Amino acid sequence: MAQQVQGVVAVGKGEPVRIETITVPDPGPGEAVVDIQACGVCHTDLHYREGGINDDFPFLLGHEAAGVVESVGAGVTDVAPGDFVILNWRAVCGQCRACLRGRPWYCFNTHNATRKMTLAGKGTELTPALGIGAFAEKTLVAAGQCTKVDPAASPAAAGLLGCGVMAGIGAAINTGNVGRGDTVAVIGCGGVGNAAIAGARLAGAAKIIAVDIDDRKLATATGLGATHTVNSRESDPVEAIRDLTSGFGADVVIEAVGRPETYRQAFYARDLAGTVVLVGVPTPEMQLELPLIDVFGRGGALKSSWYGDCLPSRDFPMLIDLYLQGRLDLDAFVTETIPLQDVEKAFGRMHQGDVLRSVVVF
Ligand code: APR
Ligand code: ZN
Ligand code: ZN
Repeated sequence: MAQQVQGVVAVGKGEPVRIETITVPDPGPGEAVVDIQACGVCHTDLHYREGGINDDFPFLLGHEAAGVVESVGAGVTDVAPGDFVILNWRAVCGQCRACLRGRPWYCFNTHNATRKMTLAGKGTELTPALGIGAFAEKTLVAAGQCTKVDPAASPAAAGLLGCGVMAGIGAAINTGNVGRGDTVAVIGCGGVGNAAIAGARLAGAAKIIAVDIDDRKLATATGLGATHTVNSRESDPVEAIRDLTSGFGADVVIEAVGRPETYRQAFYARDLAGTVVLVGVPTPEMQLELPLIDVFGRGGALKSSWYGDCLPSRDFPMLIDLYLQGRLDLDAFVTETIPLQDVEKAFGRMHQGDVLRSVVVF
């Protein structure tokens, strides 16, 4: 039977979000209803509210979430009621060209929740943010968006793997292919950049250089495994990274801001055979200008990383196991836990750079 729950809804461009009663229908074939236990506040949620993604208002926000499967529809076999799961916004199809060629992180036909939840009483369809919509006590998703992990994990920490933290760890491990003994530099140490630092440490990097303009972020970076920190307001990060790598530059430089000037720093701070990974998300207007001769004069690779090139079914359970063994400090990313009513306030704190992540707990 359809249920009514509270959820955080963005009703119009730039308007503060509202708590609304929403109707969550029973799961249809291939779907699941998940009882949400925690959901992180991400820049993308704010971006939806600002109309920066599309105009399909009203949005049911929230997408970095963990919870317990309440019910499943016909044909669902991978998850069952009672399973503790992390939600993902890119359930791969397994059948398209990308999937068949062994690169499912480029899947063309990802399965995500569609517009089935509605505003109670009005029947207005809600667009679930990133096909999830988890700032709600319950949400309806495609069953493939649920990945079962060890229920011993804290929901607040686990949920963060559903987006930003996975993006950062994956940028280092999956996209950057950081290996044992590598030197790694991370430019921008918010939730995503700091996760890249944690990922580089997991992968056995020998030297990890954290770059940010905010000393608070650099302090967190040290806790997560950075061996050196550079405040790029005080010194030139390219020179600093070269100095720390015997003049060569880093084997892997991860850009986690999403701006042309920081990308340019990453480009010049890498070893001649090094890799640049862009995981920060630029706006459509941003342009990059580089002397082509400098592109020609350097080998290595320029890559972008989308959701950390993750495969949820492979990466989520593995990272949760590492977390439970004390080898990956996911709790360090949870700056504060908040009630559902405080999402709007959390947007403000995020804007001020005060938090790595605010996490709504239910
Ligand atoms: N040089 C170095 N660091 C910078 C600079 C700069 N010029 N400008 C901003 N920063 C730092 C900020 O101080 C902050 O610590 O970059 C970090 C950005 O972090 P957050 O705002 O917390 O964002 P985060 O969630 O980490 O996401 C980073 O990745 O997924 C994308 O859309 C996301 O583009 C965003 C990026
Ligand atoms: Zn596919
Ligand atoms: Zn996100």
